[in-house]
Amino acid sequence: MADHERHPFLHGLSKHRGSPPTVVVIFGASGDLTARKLIPAIYNLAADGLLPADFYLVGFGRKSIPDAEFQAVARDAIREFSRRELSDDIWSRLAPRTLYVSGGYDERPAYDRLAARLAALEKESGQELQVLFYISTPPSVFAPIIQNLGASGLAARYLRRPHQSKVIIEKPFGRDLASARDLNRELTTVFTEPQIFRIDHYLGKETVQDLLVQRFANAIFEPLWNRNFIDHVQITVAEEVGVGSRAGYYEQSGCLRDMIQNHTMQLLALTAMEPPVSLDAESIRDEKVKLLNAIQPLRLGPGGDTARAQYTEGLVGGGLVPGYLQEAGIASGSSTETYAALRLSINNWRWAGVPFYLRSGKRLAHRVTEIALRFKRAPGNIFPESDRFNLAANTLAFQIQPDEGLSMVLNAKIPGLETRTQPVQMNFRYATTFGSNTPEAYERLVLDAMIGDGTLFIRGDETERSWQLVTPILEFWKEQGRAGLDIYAAGSWGPASSASQLAANGHSWREP
Ligand code: BG6
Repeated sequence: MADHERHPFLHGLSKHRGSPPTVVVIFGASGDLTARKLIPAIYNLAADGLLPADFYLVGFGRKSIPDAEFQAVARDAIREFSRRELSDDIWSRLAPRTLYVSGGYDERPAYDRLAARLAALEKESGQELQVLFYISTPPSVFAPIIQNLGASGLAARYLRRPHQSKVIIEKPFGRDLASARDLNRELTTVFTEPQIFRIDHYLGKETVQDLLVQRFANAIFEPLWNRNFIDHVQITVAEEVGVGSRAGYYEQSGCLRDMIQNHTMQLLALTAMEPPVSLDAESIRDEKVKLLNAIQPLRLGPGGDTARAQYTEGLVGGGLVPGYLQEAGIASGSSTETYAALRLSINNWRWAGVPFYLRSGKRLAHRVTEIALRFKRAPGNIFPESDRFNLAANTLAFQIQPDEGLSMVLNAKIPGLETRTQPVQMNFRYATTFGSNTPEAYERLVLDAMIGDGTLFIRGDETERSWQLVTPILEFWKEQGRAGLDIYAAGSWGPASSASQLAANGHSWREP
């Protein structure tokens, strides 16, 4: 029998990682994330032959629809959002395993229906299946889902298996320290920590994982990666898009919660943590928590370590776009920040005295995520700054997205009969070296959760520590309302107050 007949998802690709027979249950099956990311991710895993032979996808949602309708929705989602085109061959094997259970998230009998469906799948496949509960709903129903998974016995039923059940939980994980603690408490009442996979999709990005490889597989970096050589670090997560149709969510969130507390802090932790003793999940997460613990409380108010602002009308991509307050669904006089910047001090031997600047915003000049390490200038002055000697500080920049890669700013001699210098840039581009069809973050994350590898997920103590850092800022900003809220024109690089924060230390933001 040919491989692909025995194994409906095997298509001749070499596989280094295998998952046990699995059912993925998606709560929030009709949501945007499911269509844009989760279903295409599962489809691409199938296309790569990375799904187990016995794989099922069960959508769970409020809408009452038959399996066939969910299958049609899934097919359309793949057609529209998958990085690979829909292939009839792959889809014809996945479609009959794509099922649907309807019910309210707080409706107990719905969980009994789900349990019956899962039991029927085990019967059909003639073996025990691992169940992965993927909670991809609005946060208001996280708790009822978790409680019902507990009360219905569903979480426990699949616990004492060689491959115990798992739960993936989407962001936002809480909205401050207290709510994150509550959510952790709910989760750990029903699941154990190794069963819990808290998503930060930035950790699934190829280049974020490459950061670990670059740092720890290249011996040249470690001796330089400290206060003796590095002047400061800038982490930028800039978006060109505005609030779009997400006003309801964003008004309650703002940039600090939406981008800084999670994605940007994760980039910081991976950049600044100590080398882990191994690549296993706990070693890496221990180092990240240690690093987060070394961050000093921020100084609030004028002249402090934070900046926040809102975009006003401006030019983006050659077109005039409205300011935040003019966007649909935004409260007049809203004080929600669309830009946030922090200046962090890390109190340990490696980083004492090295400022870490973090910024994120919507409607900035263009979409770019980068981590830039600015080195100290060469000592001595045999090349005194002048017309002849144009010199820049060495900068190592990890471009996380788009145009993924790594660049280094060096000073070089301009060819010619006299010595003149100019900064030059050395580039490594992923797309040039490896081609551009890299997996999406969610492919990696869904596969890792199926395998039970938590390295690219956030541990409970990690999320609480990062909320502990930002919660005083959130409270202070709330109390201040619009006082101290700066503005910036859409399409610019952010507010003046953020620039002056760096200028106070003799630094300036890069324009990547
Ligand atoms: C999400 C935020 O977590 O990340 C969005 O809620 C943001 O506001 C998005 O646009 C950015 O993700 P990416 O992968 O496009 O950089």
